Amino acid sequence: MKTLHIACDHAGFSLKTHLTPYIESMGYTVVDHGTSGEESCDYPIFAHKLCHAVTLENGLGILICGTGIGMSMAANRHPHIRAALCTTELHARLSREHNNANVLCLGARMTGVELAKAIVAAFLCAAFAEGRHARRVSQLTPCENSEWLAS
Ligand code: RB5
Repeated sequence: MKTLHIACDHAGFSLKTHLTPYIESMGYTVVDHGTSGEESCDYPIFAHKLCHAVTLENGLGILICGTGIGMSMAANRHPHIRAALCTTELHARLSREHNNANVLCLGARMTGVELAKAIVAAFLCAAFAEGRHARRVSQLTPCENSEWLAS
């Protein structure tokens, strides 16, 4: 059984309840890292919880907040996380194929349920294309590439 991690803040909770059974129907075990209702909360806490789990398992995750922006900012502070805020199916597919994204970020106040499902499907069905994209992804972390900053 494949595992998919998911987390949200209060703004993303409703969309998460729609996406979870949909993702399960695609054959995934969904691990929910909260939040568990629509009471106001702080999105970075849930982003960090999910990113810790995705890093440990070398897995995949989905983060949902109102815009998707805060979740993607928090997630991309984690060195092994490549989080992509996607608003179209093409974004989602290319984030996997070109960027080897391991976290999909969605904005529940920006993207409706049916489009969000299509974006999730595109993300989960795509695979990293390797080749030249692997070289570029390996260059993403600035501290590991500090010799270029001086030139
Ligand atoms: C919550 O109101 C909202 O700020 C949050 O869900 C998210 O959109 C932040 O980026």
